[in-house]
Amino acid sequence: MDALKKAIAKSFRMEMIGTGVYRSLAAQYRQSQPKLSGKFTAYAGQEYRHGRLFDRCHQKAFGKSIGGGLFWRFMGSGMALMMRVLPLKAKMKKLSHVEAQAVADIEKALTGGEGADSGLVQVLRTILPDEKAHAALYRQWFPA
Ligand SMILES: [Fe+2]
Ligand SMILES: [Fe+2]
Repeated sequence: MDALKKAIAKSFRMEMIGTGVYRSLAAQYRQSQPKLSGKFTAYAGQEYRHGRLFDRCHQKAFGKSIGGGLFWRFMGSGMALMMRVLPLKAKMKKLSHVEAQAVADIEKALTGGEGADSGLVQVLRTILPDEKAHAALYRQWFPA
């Protein structure tokens, strides 16, 4: 039960950090890369929704909200600001790795079948297509 609680809270934090990162990137590239900025905005919205799903899952299983979302979004924005000096391509490559790792983690969790009764599996299945699309953005933008 404790492991499940921790796993849901960690997923929630990652989604909130991701929301902050993508929001900040969307703002940074609004002028120079409007199309890509639009993608970042869309991804920020998706990560935020993912976070809400994890929070709802936590509420159902443990009777209370996770909390701290604003703090973790702020952390994410800070991370994007620290990466500001990097070339866009390097940033996107990094993001792509993080997202690919998220996909791998979700796929692993889905084969494990843990937390099936908590609704966690349902959330993971719901968010997987989005995470796959996020991981593919780099390839879309910089085809080999
Ligand atoms: Fe996500
Ligand atoms: Fe993502």
